[in-house]
Amino acid sequence: MDNGFSTRAIRAGQTPDPVTGAVVPPLYLTSTFVQDGVGRMRSEYEYSRSGNPTRTAAATQLAALEQGTYAYITGSGMSAADLVLRTALRPGGRVVLGRDAYGGTTRLLTQVLDSWGIETVIADPCEPAALEEVLRHPAPGGQLVWVETPSNPLLHICDIAAVSALAHAYDARVCVDNTFASPYLQNPLPLGADIVVHSTTKYLGGHSDLVGGAIVVDDEELAEQLKFLQNAAGYVSSPFDAWLLIRGMKTLAVRMDRHCANARTVATFLAEHPRVSRVHYPGFDSHPGHAIAARQMRDFGGMVSFNVAGGREESLRVAAATTVFLLAESLGGVESLVEHPAAMTHASVEGTASAVDDDLLRLSVGIEDVDDLISDLDRALG
Ligand SMILES: Cc1ncc(COP(=O)(O)O)c(C=O)c1O
Repeated sequence: MDNGFSTRAIRAGQTPDPVTGAVVPPLYLTSTFVQDGVGRMRSEYEYSRSGNPTRTAAATQLAALEQGTYAYITGSGMSAADLVLRTALRPGGRVVLGRDAYGGTTRLLTQVLDSWGIETVIADPCEPAALEEVLRHPAPGGQLVWVETPSNPLLHICDIAAVSALAHAYDARVCVDNTFASPYLQNPLPLGADIVVHSTTKYLGGHSDLVGGAIVVDDEELAEQLKFLQNAAGYVSSPFDAWLLIRGMKTLAVRMDRHCANARTVATFLAEHPRVSRVHYPGFDSHPGHAIAARQMRDFGGMVSFNVAGGREESLRVAAATTVFLLAESLGGVESLVEHPAAMTHASVEGTASAVDDDLLRLSVGIEDVDDLISDLDRALG
């Protein structure tokens, strides 16, 4: 843990293969492990749903990056969220969720876990009075505050230390979805959060070639419960996806530095463009969460969203007109992506209180040459 971020990214959990000396630990594409007699295992591994060495290597690496103790690698960001929610809460429990959050998380809570007896209150967790108003009513199944910072798609910023202190005063836990920041920019556990979740599909994998999720915690009892349900219900990634994740995480710092630099240039360009009515980017001094972001993040991330002057039709036209920015859902890969949240990633919350402006476009700014990104946007907007 004394090593710097990139040394941990490259070395944590990455012991060279003891048999061959291979610098890159092998990919254990196996579902099961031979036994020398009934119950006489050759290692801690027995069956790949319960444990697999490639998954363990990825988990060890990610725990080191998040400055956490225990990590679990799952088959998607949503399965990580579901595993957390079913572990941290019981029927009769309550989740406080911000209005601006990934639409799939809102859908999971309001259209799946509602019938499991979980109440979801949409309230701003970063607004102390609003949070306290919810938390002061006890819930027999426990309370969990779900924080996205920066949030998806509006890049709202939430003070993780302040939310955690308030939640803990009411015996509630705090889970931070750290997908947008990545552990290179922000570590919620040392700030006081109880649980970190990731869609590893995004910056951690970094190359748009895997779907995966992860959970990191410090609490041993919670870790045991997560491990139990992960095995009992099979919330696991394939060894191959875990291996791709390992490879991606090794270069996280250099990729993030470039994502952040490119995003800053793109946001500045958009802010001055006459066909853009508003830019959402926490790196601007004028952003309401700028001071908190500057305190709790290393940099301001690779995501930028903006409202297009001219409304929905014009924003749809711009989204379809870029050529370097590919029109696609997801984010965090090396290639730049553009999407229309109201019609794409957040379509599942259309018509609800969490609905997104229909002139909003979200950019995942990649690591290409920034001049090409600017020319592409300029051409599409013009
Ligand atoms: C912030 C955030 N959390 C969770 C998810 C869900 O992750 P996955 O698609 O890997 O299930 C996403 C997906 O876009 C996301 O943006």
